[in-house]
Amino acid sequence: MIRKAILAATLMLALPAAARAQGAGSLNLYCSATLEWCQPIARGFERETGIRVSLTQKSTGEMLAQLRAEARNPRGDVWWGGTGDPHVAAGEEGLTEPHESPRISELHDWAQAQWRQTRGRTVGVYASVLGFGFNTELVARRDLPAPRCWADLLNPAYKGELQMANPNSSGTAYIVIATLVQMMGEEPAFEYLKKLHGSINAYPRSGTAPITAVARGETALSISFVHNAAEEAQAGFPVGHAVPCEGTGYEIGSMSIIKGARNAGNARRFYHWALGAEAQITASREAKKLQTMSNKGVPLTDGAPNMATARIIDYDNARFGASVERRRLLARWDKEVGALPR
Ligand code: G6P
Repeated sequence: MIRKAILAATLMLALPAAARAQGAGSLNLYCSATLEWCQPIARGFERETGIRVSLTQKSTGEMLAQLRAEARNPRGDVWWGGTGDPHVAAGEEGLTEPHESPRISELHDWAQAQWRQTRGRTVGVYASVLGFGFNTELVARRDLPAPRCWADLLNPAYKGELQMANPNSSGTAYIVIATLVQMMGEEPAFEYLKKLHGSINAYPRSGTAPITAVARGETALSISFVHNAAEEAQAGFPVGHAVPCEGTGYEIGSMSIIKGARNAGNARRFYHWALGAEAQITASREAKKLQTMSNKGVPLTDGAPNMATARIIDYDNARFGASVERRRLLARWDKEVGALPR
């Protein structure tokens, strides 16, 4: 028996890494953060476990659509990252599995609350505050004031200078709608979005595209998570950011195990690993990410916006993550805002 075990262990060591990985199996990781972060997450898990990870990256709304389309024949095992609302909707639609990790108690309250409210179907892995990004050089050159408040964005001087993502594909842009509805009430929020539409030069698919455009000087201003603006500034681009003076919403970047996952055991192993402080520190540093990580043992990186000092609303994850509400608000935005001429 012992000889057999020793032989097996020796064989393991003698096997090339690829063959070992084959033994450990594989994991289909669906990822809705940026590719620069999804890749170190995938590589970190492979390094730790020998499990081969195949990665698919899509914006959060698009990934929810993919999960729906694959519901009868799921191809993904675990969905990591992206804003919370589509994860909540997926849970409600029975596209994801409840799971309890022994690491739940290591997480910040907001991450645990996400898990409890969805009865274990999704959990927070990071969080970030919604705000504005602007190109400091362009703003100065065009003599534009730097925006500080939601009200400032309606300044006619910003016409054609502003970008936000398309809320159908981007979880970030859906949070813009949900935040304004919570802060202003639905009718005034849609009036605001219609006025804003006149200043928007493009609604790209991904939530980070507008801040990338700001960094490259293709547009002066964007509605973005402030950590994304801070990351561009750290990378050396002339980008400033502001947390809206009236208050603002935030995201709970989330993780869910996909129902019917073919590699369910590996999905649970990934889930456990991804909630650990070590994995969160290593991958976020490698990707130079500035969100607040969900494990309480992860310190804020230098230059990361501090959520604790931002004026944030008590975002109603249950209501705005509910499928019917999300579909209704998106349909209303398409009809009353997206379809308007600019
Ligand atoms: C970026 C941000 C993440 C966010 C994600 C949402 O990757 O850094 O914090 O969760 O965008 O992407 P989406 O394209 O769905 O707005």
